[in-house]
Amino acid sequence: MRSLRISVTDQCNLRCGYCMPEESYTWLPRSRILKYGQIAHLVRAATLLGVNKVRLTGGEPLLRKKLWRLIEQLDGIDEIDDLAMTTNGVLLVERGAEVFSAGLQRLTVSLDTLRPKRFKEMTRGGDLSRVMAGLDLAQELCPTRIKINCVAMAGINDDELESMLDWALDRDFELRFIEYMDVAGATGWTRDKVLSSENILERIEAAFGAPQPAPKAGTAPANRFHVEGRGAFGVIASTSSPFCGTCDRARLTADGTFFTCLYNEEGTDLGTAIRAGSTSEQLAQTLAAIWVQRSDRGAEERLALAEQRGILATASHLRTRPQSEMHSKGG
Ligand code: GTP
Ligand code: 5AD
Ligand code: SF4
Repeated sequence: MRSLRISVTDQCNLRCGYCMPEESYTWLPRSRILKYGQIAHLVRAATLLGVNKVRLTGGEPLLRKKLWRLIEQLDGIDEIDDLAMTTNGVLLVERGAEVFSAGLQRLTVSLDTLRPKRFKEMTRGGDLSRVMAGLDLAQELCPTRIKINCVAMAGINDDELESMLDWALDRDFELRFIEYMDVAGATGWTRDKVLSSENILERIEAAFGAPQPAPKAGTAPANRFHVEGRGAFGVIASTSSPFCGTCDRARLTADGTFFTCLYNEEGTDLGTAIRAGSTSEQLAQTLAAIWVQRSDRGAEERLALAEQRGILATASHLRTRPQSEMHSKGG
């Protein structure tokens, strides 16, 4: 366990069809949402086991009030040498300056289309111009190259692969195409909407020439490539070619449920122990006990289902288990 992904809220200001397609959701009870001090306490415990990377996610992390205060606390933990956030970018104009001055080092923005009308449809109401303005500002403030996550879906945005990559290379963003995943919450998932990384790469090759494999960043999920003379991009093949064997990621939901795999449905409640005042050593022991027993290979198991593959969990089941939703776990 090296990387801890912390979802600071299950709330979101968008409704992307691959993540939150339903009309209504069961939200995590407000009384159980961890406070910033409690999250930082858990992070300190996790560093005792070797965690040195933290990524803040959501829902939409910038919806959480004064997020910069959490970032400031995490920035003060010496062992954490990589502090990142994944956001939909809508609130970057308002909150970007404070999160970077508090110590945020890396930023990923989820963006699946460059067309305002399509953006509005895909996110069910989002305003693309706000994301674009947020990206302009973030590019001035972010100390490292910004990454863009684009879920490529057949029949939805697959006519924009080339234009999105062209835009990202021009703007010096590292774009990553992500295969549509059958994670909990993706209740509209069907196999025919998945655009495989093989397909994506063929299309890129036809438009830009053969992309050259570039070094992978540690155990990160993206396969990286170079477009001659222009820059790098990535493909995250979680659906067609999983990478469970090298996964060093754990996840914490806003209510303190700990997941050792994106595809886990149960998770372990750590929130109760954190709220009850467990020490760092006690929490580290609990984390270690969970991690040594871990044998997850969720994405590989999904792949093995082949033709039988369908949605992982129904909407009615998820209403009884909101922690396992993608928008609670944070992707
Ligand atoms: P970097 O440290 O910048 O490489 O971050 P990252 O790529 O891990 O972060 P990000 O939140 O941008 O994740 C990108 C996508 O990778 C997610 O949306 C998922 O689709 C996929 N992904 C991340 N972690 C896992 C994982 O543990 N298992 C699987 N199967 N997919 C994952
Ligand atoms: N398949 C692939 N990626 C997804 N994300 C959310 N739901 C899915 C899904 N079903 C991505 C978002 C975001 C990241 C955290 O997770 O686009 O960039
Ligand atoms: Fe979209 Fe992210 Fe919100 Fe899910 S959590 S609806 S992917 S913006």
